[in-house]
Amino acid sequence: MYARPISCNLSGPVLAALPSSVPPTIVLAVSGSIAAYKAVEVARLLKKAGARVIPLLTRSAREFVGAQTLAGITGEPVHEEMFDPGYPGEKHVELGRTADLVLIVPATADLLARIAAGRADDLLTALVLCARGPVLAAPAMHPRMWGHPATQRNVATLAADGRVSLIGPVEGEVASGERGMGRMADPAEIAHAALAAVETRDLAGIRIVVTAGPTVEDLDPVRFLGNRSTGKMGFAVAERAASRGASVTLVAGPVALATPRGVTRVDVRGALAMKEALWEAMGPDLGRADALIMSAAVADYRPAEQSATKRKRSAEALEIKLIPNPDLLAEVGAARTGTRPVLVGFAVETADDAGIVAYARGKLQAKRVDMVVANHAQDSFGREDNRATIVTANDAEALGVMSKRDLADRILDRVAQRCR
Ligand code: CTP
Repeated sequence: MYARPISCNLSGPVLAALPSSVPPTIVLAVSGSIAAYKAVEVARLLKKAGARVIPLLTRSAREFVGAQTLAGITGEPVHEEMFDPGYPGEKHVELGRTADLVLIVPATADLLARIAAGRADDLLTALVLCARGPVLAAPAMHPRMWGHPATQRNVATLAADGRVSLIGPVEGEVASGERGMGRMADPAEIAHAALAAVETRDLAGIRIVVTAGPTVEDLDPVRFLGNRSTGKMGFAVAERAASRGASVTLVAGPVALATPRGVTRVDVRGALAMKEALWEAMGPDLGRADALIMSAAVADYRPAEQSATKRKRSAEALEIKLIPNPDLLAEVGAARTGTRPVLVGFAVETADDAGIVAYARGKLQAKRVDMVVANHAQDSFGREDNRATIVTANDAEALGVMSKRDLADRILDRVAQRCR
């Protein structure tokens, strides 16, 4: 009988918390299996996510994947030999000290056996013994090899030692065309597990409500008033908050974005529906949330009347009466009695830099919030990056152009400080 794969338990020896601004360093070690080519995709995904990736090839891995490919993707020299005349010092010790994670993709049956036995007869096995951080391995082999008692004994030893975690293998087709347990986990799953292993969990235990996207105000069953918000900023905040360990509820207007992993999403259309979902998430006394990050572009007005049927065209000019929507953030600000929940507003303006800070300060006071993230409409809407100023009662930190993901981290760094 095949043993179940070990789930990804990364309670490993030392998992240093990385400040979000410091990119993690991952040693990506490739051993000799046909699945080795998929390590290139893992390297690409890790680089894309902002990690520094140091490639390592075992001797047999060189039969399957070229050092040039890995060097090209990672921008780092490839380490292959334990004894390297050109390298000052002990390579396995130095890599073990540098790596926030040693990631082995793929891990062969032979490699698992050697690690389980505590061998140190090549660079990778010596590095595994010397690593200060966690080690995560993605086994790949023929199902009969995985199911063999010797392999299962080695897997059980690794689990008992608690120093090497496995992701996969999974059930599926293997290189020979046969099916069974032994196929390597999907590269995206491996990259996600690797990033989760090096992620700082500074928001663990913190409950964050995020609003994102536009609200749209229906005129009739086919027409609405809306705005240009795409929701990217709020979704980035929700994704980063969840990755950093927060429990996140995302109240989203109509947007075409996938729900970030681990996030509870509530979809709404209009401002009144967003208000209802927001208070449901925060609780009537605001006790269900430690922070609210209000990035939604809530419509300030809605049509006084909604037609139940489609309005017909006429030759006359059409006047539509709009009535004000409630200010959702200001209502929460007015209801808050102490310092919790931490309240973060956004202000998208068309003024100059000094003007947007002045508007943001006004909103800070009027809505009784802790900080306002101010930006220019042209720097923000629909873009992948943003240029913002974080305005609080005491300061205004002008940030340069950065990805929405990085801006989300900067906002969350401040939320984390206030939640301590
Ligand atoms: N906001 C809100 N409810 C509204 C309008 C805005 O909760 N009806 C929130 C937004 O989510 C944002 C902040 O208030 O966090 C500022 O939004 P913004 O549209 O810039 O400000 P307004 O108060 O609407 O002021 P103006 O449109 O006049 O600049």
